[in-house]
Amino acid sequence: MEGFKTIIEPFKIKMVEPIKLSTKEERKQYLKEAYFNPFLLESDKVLIDLLTDSGTSAMSANQWAGIMQGDESYAGARSWIRMRDTIMDLTGFKHILPTHQGRAAERILYGYLGGKGKTFISNTLFDTTRANIEFSGSEGIDIPIEEGKHPEVLHPFKGNMDVKKLEEIITEKGSDNIAGVILTVTNNSGGGQPVSMENAKAVSEICKKHHVKLYLDCCRIAENSYFVKHRESGFESTSYKEIAQQMFSLCDGAIMSAKKDALVNMGGFLAINDDELNEKLQNLLIITEGFATYGGLSGRDMEAIAIGLNEVFEPDYLQYRIRSTAYLGDRLEKIGIPIMRPTGGHAVYIDAKALYPQIPLDEYPGQALVCNLYLEGGIRAVEIGSVMFGKYNKHHQLIPASMELVRLAIPRRVYTQSHMDFVIEVFEKIWQHKDKAQGLKITYEQPFLRHFTAHFESFI
Ligand code: F0G
Repeated sequence: MEGFKTIIEPFKIKMVEPIKLSTKEERKQYLKEAYFNPFLLESDKVLIDLLTDSGTSAMSANQWAGIMQGDESYAGARSWIRMRDTIMDLTGFKHILPTHQGRAAERILYGYLGGKGKTFISNTLFDTTRANIEFSGSEGIDIPIEEGKHPEVLHPFKGNMDVKKLEEIITEKGSDNIAGVILTVTNNSGGGQPVSMENAKAVSEICKKHHVKLYLDCCRIAENSYFVKHRESGFESTSYKEIAQQMFSLCDGAIMSAKKDALVNMGGFLAINDDELNEKLQNLLIITEGFATYGGLSGRDMEAIAIGLNEVFEPDYLQYRIRSTAYLGDRLEKIGIPIMRPTGGHAVYIDAKALYPQIPLDEYPGQALVCNLYLEGGIRAVEIGSVMFGKYNKHHQLIPASMELVRLAIPRRVYTQSHMDFVIEVFEKIWQHKDKAQGLKITYEQPFLRHFTAHFESFI
């Protein structure tokens, strides 16, 4: 609303889902039972769940109406046609393959293109993307711009890829060994930071020059478009959807986890132009996901995706979405909490290394913060640091991740400003007790994606 400071939620609430309050004593016990890993907590024991923005959106009345209209036919369902046409219109790609979520599309595309001796290059690969690439025997190289690696440094497009390094790596490895370049928008693991159109164009030109394929990991493409419109000159009067369309037009294909910007609880897709590649991938799709006109999805899911993909580009929604995330970031900064600046699209990222300098990296300052947030206020967040991305050297010493972040991911259309005000109050307590915070030790872990299932021992 023009002339007002308050950005209101642009929706009314028609259905509510109660959340349970708990005492600190109870939370201490729950956390112990979950081995100090919030992924292992039962959601009923969480008050405000900021673990992820993935699959946690509240659907609109229109989407729920669409669910009732879902066509569950095995082949050629009406809901499939609707989803396919919506994606074709948005992305401009010729072949659309539905999958049950993003990582299924990743396994199909990157598993096929990858293999031993191959390299994928990205601004930053998300954890499942990296896992699928490494599982295929390939290596994944992250080359965000330098500013993107420093939480305190301000830059309008911290998600950008270092184009100089991109050209160097392609030249050094040889084009034939590059299985693909992946531009993640917004850059989730790099702090939910946007990628500019200028950067996407430069990346695309380099890829074309060297005959290397460029794929867009587009699960937060609408949020990225918001930043392009408001931060990059020349896009002031371009619509959010047109900005997204321009970005797709620079690429050879895209993968989307629809659980983010398609505003649904489950779904994904792969979109490409290459006919021959499509034939191969469709085969893989049918073997493990489902027939080509549903992938792993039910008709009602596809219906909801088709509707959500349009709703997400509505200007009132996008303004509320980005400004409400910034509201949380701004208030935390005011308290003194070191955050990744500027605030990204779907989440606020806390720099746990700066908040808890007394905790050594091999005692995981991010995990300590995640545990303290739960203990203080029943808030569930996720560590994006050395628990998620750390590796070991041959003496089993930790090779830490480049940053120790904690992500407060905001589910879409789920929490109100008073929920966020509560989160801010919990952080006031975190700030007061920061000098007393202690680290944790890992007592159990798996070789891939260890953060999901790891057990910790705490000094709490
Ligand atoms: N790519 C990005 C950039 C993601 O953020 C995710 C998921 C995926 C791919 C995989 O999609 O979950 O549907 O298989 N991110 C979630 C998160 C899990 O919490 O950020 P998926």
